Amino acid sequence: MRIFGLKQKRMLLLLHSIKSLILLMGIITIFGLTLLSIRLVDPSTEAVFSITSSHKISDSTLISISVNNNNYINPDFNVSSSLSPQNSHGSVKTASCATVEEMGNVYGPDFGASKESLRVRRLIHHHFLINGASNVRKLPPDEFCRHGFVIAKAAEAGFGNEMYKILTAGALSIMLNRSLIIGQTRGKYPFGDYITYSNKSFTLKEVKHLWRKNGCVAKYGRYLVVRVDDFQKPLRTNILCSNWNKWQQPIIWLQNTTDAVAAQFFLKNVHPEMRSAAYELFGKPELNSRPNVFGELMRLLISPSAGIEAAVNSVLASGEDPDITLHMRMLMSRSLWPVQSALSCIRKAMENLEQVARPKVVLVSDTPSFISTIKPSLQELAQVVHFDYKHFRRNMSLDVSSKSHDLEFRSKDWGPAPRWVAFVDFFLASRAKYAVISGANRRVGTTYAQLIAALAAANSLDENSHTNPGFLFLSSFHSNMLRNGLTNQIGWGHAWNRFAGPLSCHGQPNQCAYTPLLPPGWWDGIWQSPITRDIRRLKMYGVRVSGLGTIDEEHLQSYCKSKKNTAVKVPVSSM
Ligand SMILES: *[C@@H]1O[C@H](CO)[C@@H](O)[C@H](O)[C@H]1NC(C)=O
Ligand SMILES: *[C@@H]1O[C@H](CO)[C@@H](O)[C@H](O)[C@H]1NC(C)=O
Ligand SMILES: *[C@@H]1O[C@H](CO)[C@@H](O)[C@H](O)[C@H]1NC(C)=O
Ligand SMILES: *[C@@H]1O[C@H](CO)[C@@H](O)[C@H](O)[C@H]1NC(C)=O
Ligand SMILES: *[C@@H]1O[C@H](CO)[C@@H](O)[C@H](O)[C@H]1NC(C)=O
Repeated sequence: MRIFGLKQKRMLLLLHSIKSLILLMGIITIFGLTLLSIRLVDPSTEAVFSITSSHKISDSTLISISVNNNNYINPDFNVSSSLSPQNSHGSVKTASCATVEEMGNVYGPDFGASKESLRVRRLIHHHFLINGASNVRKLPPDEFCRHGFVIAKAAEAGFGNEMYKILTAGALSIMLNRSLIIGQTRGKYPFGDYITYSNKSFTLKEVKHLWRKNGCVAKYGRYLVVRVDDFQKPLRTNILCSNWNKWQQPIIWLQNTTDAVAAQFFLKNVHPEMRSAAYELFGKPELNSRPNVFGELMRLLISPSAGIEAAVNSVLASGEDPDITLHMRMLMSRSLWPVQSALSCIRKAMENLEQVARPKVVLVSDTPSFISTIKPSLQELAQVVHFDYKHFRRNMSLDVSSKSHDLEFRSKDWGPAPRWVAFVDFFLASRAKYAVISGANRRVGTTYAQLIAALAAANSLDENSHTNPGFLFLSSFHSNMLRNGLTNQIGWGHAWNRFAGPLSCHGQPNQCAYTPLLPPGWWDGIWQSPITRDIRRLKMYGVRVSGLGTIDEEHLQSYCKSKKNTAVKVPVSSM
């Protein structure tokens, strides 16, 4: 496990400040100068700085500069090696920006997430042994009526976002030692036609029934009340300021948690008790351990419905599970830019699985034409399989055509295939044994791709094996996407959002970057820095984030002290 101290980050901060000062002096003395050449600490490195924006950041002397390192491809200029703790013997050589590959290098084959993921698997297992439905439903009335629940409610919108709502509720139930309820709509689970839910969770219907049966209101005066907290209302949510363990309401509903970030907000909650519950699940931020929390939760909570499973098996009829998944989020684009970088990413993944001569690759895309575009070149490297819904013999259990009409407006986002195909693709893709590659024309590592990688990694992690090869999640970037560094990865649902700030180099070439299975919720890692939009957004939550992602904890403490504790409670009948 690697320990990334704040020290290194402070050095970066210092360097940025020094550079800013030098820059200012340069501007003052040589008026009109647009380019400045400065010799850095490393004499082999020449960097060109140019000011692109100068907004104020809370750190007094710091102005935001963007650094154009025209020659970072120079082999002498290797940021990751100059910063990696192993070869820094006390003295840290510092560069002012990194490429995505350099940022991702720590998450490579040696990252060792499997040990942490196995720890979290045991934690989850233990949690559901105690708080799972089969144990809780047989509790004596006095215990049952004192028991707490967290409810997950999801609509049938984008699968990645909606699944994260369920998984966040699962994570919260673990942090709070409560049972999980998965809400239904008119008696149906979210995506219930395509997904089967395990019996570890309750339905609200059953909880209501048990509440009556055990006389919780009549005998114990416990009303089945839901406390609601809306994550997307920064001024109202109590996610950072409240000790949720103290909440007395039988049911808690944390709303609008559409990505991996929301649950990780508890890592910065002002109450030590909440923080340590979050560390237990997500690992301590300074240890940079990133257990596959959401993958392990999914493995336990969901499986494909029989119809989806049959479709998946129709693709894998010839036996073996695939080695690698390539998921391409193209949003109907016909751009060829992503093809080359995706192919080199396949090669990089293959280098890591030497024992397989001709790997089996599953191709998944929202844009069917992309599959025919890349397939010929991909077939030169690998055996290619994909799910062709047009050739799949129509299975009545999958044909929910009445519904698909009102979703046609989403076809630009989800692609032209019927809705259920996304679920066949999802469960097919999550069968990959060694690697998942996420590529795109614009946004890499979307929630859908993250969850494919997370579930595949969990599926391939074997608790009885001593040699778990690290599962690889790779992001394929083409240079066009990196012209301004990672600044376009603006959504919190994108795996690289927390790296998108000023520490990301502009004008990078095609790359294939190792990606953490658990997308970071904060900016604790050395190369992580926020975009200005997120600095502003976090400010609304009461969090002052510096240009390099450090957090002013005192400010948060005093914000929370002055914050009105508004609790929204609704009777369960309104759910
Ligand atoms: C950076 O260093 C790594 C090893 O630490 C090496 O594999 C890689 O090729 C280097 N990259 C460049 C651009 O020199
Ligand atoms: C979790 O809850 C169960 C029963 O609801 C209780 O027995 C157990 O002690 C609790 N564990 C913790 C760590 O609070
Ligand atoms: C829950 O599901 C598991 C596995 O599917 C099964 O073995 C077990 O019997 C089920 N428990 C109950 C109480 O239905
Ligand atoms: C938050 O969730 C609630 C309930 O699902 C929904 O009504 C509301 O529109 C959501 N808010 C946003 C901003 O999406
Ligand atoms: C259709 O789905 C059912 C399960 O719902 C499965 O048993 C059957 O084999 C499938 N048929 C085909 C043709 O795949």
